[in-house]
Amino acid sequence: MTFLRCIQNRFGVLRLLLLGLVLVHGARAVHTDPSTGKLVRYSVRPRANSVTGNYLPPPTADAWYKAPEGWQSAKPGDVLRIREHAYPTINIPNAIDTFQVLYRTSDSLDNASWSVATVYIPKSHRNCLPGSNATKSGCSHAMVVYDVPSDSVSPDAAPGYLLQFQEPYGEMRDMLARGWFIMVPDYEGPEAAFCAGVQAGHATLDATRAVLKVAGQFGLEMDRVKVGMWGYSGGAFAVGFASELAETYAPELVIDAAVVGGSSPNISKVDERMNKATTAGLFVTSLYGATVQQPEAHAFLLKQLRTEGLYNKTKFLSALTMTGAEVLGAFWQEDIFNYLENGRDDFDNPIIQSAIDRDAVMGLHGTPRIPSFYYKAVYDELSPVNETSVMIDDFCRHGANILFHQNTIGGHNDELWTGRLRALDYLTAKLEGKVGNSSGVKMDIPATGCVTQTVSLPLETLYLLPDWWWTTGPGLGQGLFPK
Ligand SMILES: *[C@@H]1O[C@H](CO)[C@@H](O)[C@H](O)[C@H]1NC(C)=O
Ligand SMILES: *[C@@H]1O[C@H](CO)[C@@H](O)[C@H](O)[C@H]1NC(C)=O
Ligand SMILES: *[C@@H]1O[C@H](CO)[C@@H](O)[C@H](O)[C@H]1NC(C)=O
Ligand SMILES: *[C@@H]1O[C@H](CO)[C@@H](O)[C@H](O)[C@H]1NC(C)=O
Ligand SMILES: *[C@@H]1O[C@H](CO)[C@@H](O)[C@H](O)[C@H]1NC(C)=O
Ligand SMILES: *[C@@H]1O[C@H](CO)[C@@H](O)[C@H](O)[C@H]1NC(C)=O
Repeated sequence: MTFLRCIQNRFGVLRLLLLGLVLVHGARAVHTDPSTGKLVRYSVRPRANSVTGNYLPPPTADAWYKAPEGWQSAKPGDVLRIREHAYPTINIPNAIDTFQVLYRTSDSLDNASWSVATVYIPKSHRNCLPGSNATKSGCSHAMVVYDVPSDSVSPDAAPGYLLQFQEPYGEMRDMLARGWFIMVPDYEGPEAAFCAGVQAGHATLDATRAVLKVAGQFGLEMDRVKVGMWGYSGGAFAVGFASELAETYAPELVIDAAVVGGSSPNISKVDERMNKATTAGLFVTSLYGATVQQPEAHAFLLKQLRTEGLYNKTKFLSALTMTGAEVLGAFWQEDIFNYLENGRDDFDNPIIQSAIDRDAVMGLHGTPRIPSFYYKAVYDELSPVNETSVMIDDFCRHGANILFHQNTIGGHNDELWTGRLRALDYLTAKLEGKVGNSSGVKMDIPATGCVTQTVSLPLETLYLLPDWWWTTGPGLGQGLFPK
């Protein structure tokens, strides 16, 4: 009886038991699973035999993963190739099939480029797939463009490849359970330019254009389709740039919602904060990635890397073959300035800083015209909340439509988990036209203009319940915070 009451009370006992774990593990800058304290496994390269099934080879060894002859003459957003049933094995719950689209895009300098988008089809869509016999009921009419934080400068850590093994946070599973197509662009492009904002924005927008051209073949209801975008942290960087660039770069594209969590508007400031911290490896990848497309800055960085000592060029450039998780381990708490001939002065050099200002600072490339939900922890240790509020205030002065949640509890990693249900509620409102209530938080979504809402939401231990609870068990369709 008591136990049952606890279950009805949404696992009150479990909450208490797990509270300790959360307190211990909750406040990390890196993305950790609060139940285990371990890095989320998405960016961990699978060990041989640690996964069963057949998998696509890494992009650099995959003949499909290259632009076909003559691709440069295609227009941004054109489809260059389609791979149906792309994943031989799917490890994301609630996905029934995948397909990939290789498409034309433009890099940060507006040079012709290409990338790959992977689309995950929800199980509820099973009667709507090509060749299916049935009644065409339950067909999907929404797609969420989901930018995952890649954190890597290795083309072989592209999401389209790594998501075969595991998704990072369970967000894809939850969106698929709502019957939405999920589209994940490899927004860093063929050079894996992590933190090259314009590249990420272009690649996200062109992936959306390209996939919408073909999604009807896979049964997505194109006559009433709604499109959302969502990203946290590094993913928020890509969604943020896409939102800013949309009006000028893809004016014909209709996107109904953008969700931007844990945004870090200025990579230069974030790098300073990550130096010597657990996230020092991301200083390496962001410095390399944000400058790799800018010839002068790239040459300068390579020239200033020390060739002798323990903090040398060879070690620095070893990041080029590492996944995001590997790079964290390799540079754990290192002082990254040590790799530069003149230390911090080289980082502060105008050649580097102007490259970052051009391509890795949000808020400077246009006003988002897409209804948006931003959420951020007030005590986000990677970027102070006021950097984001200053940016949002500016957007709002220029006519943006934004709901901004500032959570007074937790840091960068906590907000990733606590923001999830509110993000889903916002997407539900915009994609389904009904108020999502899974978070139990009343979302003050403004019809026009902007609203800043302060919330105080702790890291909810029920996030620790396993997949089955949310997908096939009693948690299906349930929220965490009953009123
Ligand atoms: C990329 O664009 C820049 C600026 O327009 C140009 O100088 C450069 O030659 C281009 N690079 C390539 C590889 O096309
Ligand atoms: C469709 O129906 C036919 C005849 O009933 C059957 O042979 C075929 O296997 C079905 N195909 C699918 C995809 O269900
Ligand atoms: C570069 O650094 C690594 C470890 O950081 C070290 O093993 C290697 O010997 C160094 N190389 C040179 C040329 O000093
Ligand atoms: C980004 O941050 C750096 C370091 O604080 C600062 O020098 C630079 O002016 C900022 N860039 C922009 C565009 O605000
Ligand atoms: C943000 O707040 C900090 C501390 O209160 C302050 O030093 C900084 O100047 C503020 N930044 C902005 C962009 O308002
Ligand atoms: C959310 O709404 C649905 C349908 O209106 C209802 O069945 C469910 O109990 C609600 N959940 C919460 C947490 O309020």
